[in-house]
Amino acid sequence: MRIVHVNGEYFPEDQARVSVFDRGFLFADAVYEVTSVLDGKLIDFPGHAARLARSLAELDMDMPVTEEEILSIHREMVTRNDITDGLVYLQVTRGAVDRDFLFPEDAQPTIVLFTQAKPGLADSPAARTGLKVVTLPDRRWGRRDIKTVQLLYPSMAKTEAKRQGADDAWLVEDGHVTEGTSNNAYIVRNGTIVTRQLGEEILHGITRRAVLAFAREAQMKVEERPFTVEEARSAEEAFVTSASAFVMPVVEIDGRPVGDGQPGPVARRLREIYLEESRKAAI
Ligand code: PDD
Repeated sequence: MRIVHVNGEYFPEDQARVSVFDRGFLFADAVYEVTSVLDGKLIDFPGHAARLARSLAELDMDMPVTEEEILSIHREMVTRNDITDGLVYLQVTRGAVDRDFLFPEDAQPTIVLFTQAKPGLADSPAARTGLKVVTLPDRRWGRRDIKTVQLLYPSMAKTEAKRQGADDAWLVEDGHVTEGTSNNAYIVRNGTIVTRQLGEEILHGITRRAVLAFAREAQMKVEERPFTVEEARSAEEAFVTSASAFVMPVVEIDGRPVGDGQPGPVARRLREIYLEESRKAAI
């Protein structure tokens, strides 16, 4: 049985409890992070800790514990759950108070962590075959740069993508791709990697930042700008990045092959570099 962390204590998962009045449950008034674990070590923990602090600050929520404490809780979770490869999920909510739309003054934040074991996470077969995506309208709220737990629309979109026989959806606003349901989206055109610039329309992916830095170091050309669905459909390559998928090739968009319909060389190379470098830097 998994061991779950709730507000400073460790419980077997069937004994962990959060209040019915928790604002995370009633209002999605909560933020989260997902950090991957490879060989028992955390990938890019400082990036995730920094984004957590930013998400909390944007919502005027308190950081319940220090960054060092968050790190030691993550490590404790990896050890107690014997995770070699997998994920650590962390959520901070504004806390439990009587239901009211107004932000409470005196709520104590709730912090919850659990792990998901994913043996062979870095070796997933999907990385060799690539993903099929369909485009769907982006109907999320306007502050997607804050990593809130309001995941209903991404969840609907992923389910709709599966119904259509695809693996995931790319979300589209004003004719331009924003991002995937739970990943950042990229295409390669004329040898240049194109991905949407940072702003309130997308999550500032921790993997995105690392991958773009590695791409530039490897002398690959990068353009940060919105791209259209038409550009994506006629791209040489496409791929996504996230903490749980690393760099994952996209081989089909709306039922049509991207390039020759196989994972492309840029995505494959970036996946290799990303995995190699982040394993070296893991803590
Ligand atoms: N999702 N965009 C969205 C909307 C996301 O939910 C995520 C992450 C990303 C990629 O960010 P990062 O590289 O920091 O993981 C982009 C996580 C993995 C999830 O919800 O499971």
